[in-house]
Amino acid sequence: MSPGATDNAFNSNAYRQTLGGFGTGVALAAAFDRQGRAHGLIVNSLTSVSLDPPIVLWCLASASSAFEVYTQCDAFSLNILAADFEDHVPRFSARGDRIIPDDLIETLSTGAPVLTGAVAVLDCTLRSRQQEGDHEVIFGDVAAFRSAPQADALGFFRGRFFTLTGEEEGER
Ligand SMILES: Cc1cc2nc3c(=O)[nH]c(=O)nc-3n(C[C@H](O)[C@H](O)[C@H](O)COP(=O)(O)O)c2cc1C
Repeated sequence: MSPGATDNAFNSNAYRQTLGGFGTGVALAAAFDRQGRAHGLIVNSLTSVSLDPPIVLWCLASASSAFEVYTQCDAFSLNILAADFEDHVPRFSARGDRIIPDDLIETLSTGAPVLTGAVAVLDCTLRSRQQEGDHEVIFGDVAAFRSAPQADALGFFRGRFFTLTGEEEGER
């Protein structure tokens, strides 16, 4: 059975709750708009697609007010957030102005804005994009990256934020 508009049994709240059981990190997708303003958007759809060549993807709601920013840019970054960024999350997930202050950004290889205090940064050129359902899947070629392996990361699980610590309890 394929769940869809004609399937009354498909409950989208229950579906969201089900997906929420997949714990993730939290990232800030960042890109400059045509006016040179740095936009940031909270996302957890970041996925590694290929290691060689290094390709990542993330998914952007087609209805997003920031759709043009992220589909018209040549480059974007995905910034894996540190736990101490949690206070800024509402600002970058709420509707309205999601401009990143200058003192929080720099640039690496592509010229896209990257966050200074991120746990890890993937600096990407826009490779391709593909509409699937109600989202745009955005693929990026990773041109540069860096990480701060000691920093605690922000996690998201069942609708709540958590701190993911880097404390080692043995290698896996
Ligand atoms: C933890 C978390 C993860 C999110 N992940 C995504 C995502 O992967 N893709 C997306 O388009 N929006 C995602 N959002 C929603 C956006 O951050 C933001 O709330 C939404 O784009 C606001 O609507 P607007 O773009 O129309 O202003 C996420 C929000 C939260 C809190």
